[in-house]
Amino acid sequence: MHRGIDNRRLGPENPRPDGKWPRSLIVAMTYIVMDACIKCKFMDCVEVCPVDCFYEGENFLVINPDECIDCGVCEPECPVDAIKPDTEDEADGKWLRINSDYAKVWPNITVKGEPPEDRTDFERETGKFEKYFSEKPGKGS
Ligand code: SF4
Ligand code: F3S
Repeated sequence: MHRGIDNRRLGPENPRPDGKWPRSLIVAMTYIVMDACIKCKFMDCVEVCPVDCFYEGENFLVINPDECIDCGVCEPECPVDAIKPDTEDEADGKWLRINSDYAKVWPNITVKGEPPEDRTDFERETGKFEKYFSEKPGKGS
């Protein structure tokens, strides 16, 4: 009789015979765009993403967490360090929620556009979400 695999008894010390982890033990991860992007919007990030999962707002970009493959390639491309793994989100998951929500309604962006002329004025500012965040979509590309 084929008894299948009993996931309840599997763990790091007791992996599956086929070497794969049961889905229940895999933690989904994603990168997210955070406050520093707002009103800077350099867009270097979109050119390197292998799965084209950036979405464009009027003054901010987000990553679709359902599409991000967690490769990390975009993180060092951002001149203002706005891209972080979701493990660096705020305790209440604020930025993961923002990325997820706006990726559903903003257009996809895959080609770098013209960054805002005054972007350097906002590079060191904090709390930009509360002051400047716009729900309006960007043009996409
Ligand atoms: Fe794209 Fe990789 Fe960045 Fe995710 S981590 S947004 S897949 S470049
Ligand atoms: Fe924003 Fe940085 Fe990309 S400023 S648009 S996350 S390169």
